[in-house]
Amino acid sequence: MTEPIGELNPPVRLMLTPGPSSVDPRVYRALATPLVGHMDPWFRGCMDETQVLLRQIFQTENRITLPLSASGSGGIEASVVNVLEEGDEAIVAVNGVFSERMYEIATRASSKVTKVEAPYGKPVDPEDVRRAGKGKKIKMVGLAQGETSTGVLTKIDGVRKVAEELGALLVADTVASLAAVPLDVDRERVDVCFSGSQKAISAPPGMSPITVSAAAEDVFRKRKTKVQSWYFDLTTAMNYWGKDRLYHHTPPISLIFALREAMRLVMEEGLEARWERHRVNQLALIDGLEAMGLKLLVEKPADRLPTVTAVMVPAGADDVKLRNQLLDEFNIEIAGGFGAIKGKIWRVGLMGYCSQKPNVLLFLAALEKCLIDQGFRVASGAGVGAAVQHYTHAETAAAASR
Ligand SMILES: Cc1ncc(COP(=O)(O)O)c(C=O)c1O
Repeated sequence: MTEPIGELNPPVRLMLTPGPSSVDPRVYRALATPLVGHMDPWFRGCMDETQVLLRQIFQTENRITLPLSASGSGGIEASVVNVLEEGDEAIVAVNGVFSERMYEIATRASSKVTKVEAPYGKPVDPEDVRRAGKGKKIKMVGLAQGETSTGVLTKIDGVRKVAEELGALLVADTVASLAAVPLDVDRERVDVCFSGSQKAISAPPGMSPITVSAAAEDVFRKRKTKVQSWYFDLTTAMNYWGKDRLYHHTPPISLIFALREAMRLVMEEGLEARWERHRVNQLALIDGLEAMGLKLLVEKPADRLPTVTAVMVPAGADDVKLRNQLLDEFNIEIAGGFGAIKGKIWRVGLMGYCSQKPNVLLFLAALEKCLIDQGFRVASGAGVGAAVQHYTHAETAAAASR
């Protein structure tokens, strides 16, 4: 006889991972509110509000702005397959696993996709994109603003200028950066921009906010072939998210409730305050890590993604054992590296609800204990001390500028 399955009772973790992030209790409450039908007139109002919030966070007036019923990878897929048809030329700037995923998806839509690479830990040089596109009729240039696998921030402006010169649409993956890093879709003229619900927005995983410029909509209208994915055809998806609210598919209603609440909290805090919070918490974390003698993968401070800090695993440390100890002893989850840098880095996420001073200080203290248990000599309290000092300076400077 098998035992009856018990009630679901997951452990309460502090998710300092590159996503998903922990969620505000108010978002859990929204998730647990009673269901309504997806064609219910009340729900239509809720959809309107969700779209208002999405436009505020993306900073756009774009008509096509909706949360796709998909994880972040669905956002990549939707963006690429709506823009590209077989034979179209495209360039994808690749500097890690997720930008590589965009390249891989693009190669399934067209056989003429060029990869322009940068070493792990660096953004792609816009000059390399310019060179790759010279003399070609490029339809799309793609990039990841936040490359989560390496903790690298790519500045959109440089690549966008090149995309404009080439007459190409710019597609940006902001899965790990939206609501944590400055982004203004309309001002920066990003044509297709998508994100994920589970990172700095701090809603549960499963939705991919996306927005499409009028120029990209025009390109969609002029396609010669149908989008090969029925589900991700953005023009038909807009029949539901547009004014007619025509049935397309049954959306994850509870996830929309949670996303709406999470985005309401983003706007309650204010975008600029949120960007600053992410910036300060990462700088305090970095000061703490460096005071403990640890090194970062991303050498140039300006290239560091505020939501994900890639720390080099020190020689002699057992990567998996340390991460397991953090989980078992402190209930803290961080991530390892993958792809070419598996076992070489730890990735510490400070995203959305998780990007908080108490979490930074707890993590640094817990890391010190784990390193000491592996035989490393760490000056007692050095990490926490340096982070505290950072916060004290930052708070004094903020008070003086008020
Ligand atoms: C930058 C980036 N793009 C895309 C994805 C894929 O998102 P998902 O795992 O939600 O499909 C991730 C996930 O970590 C990501 O960090």
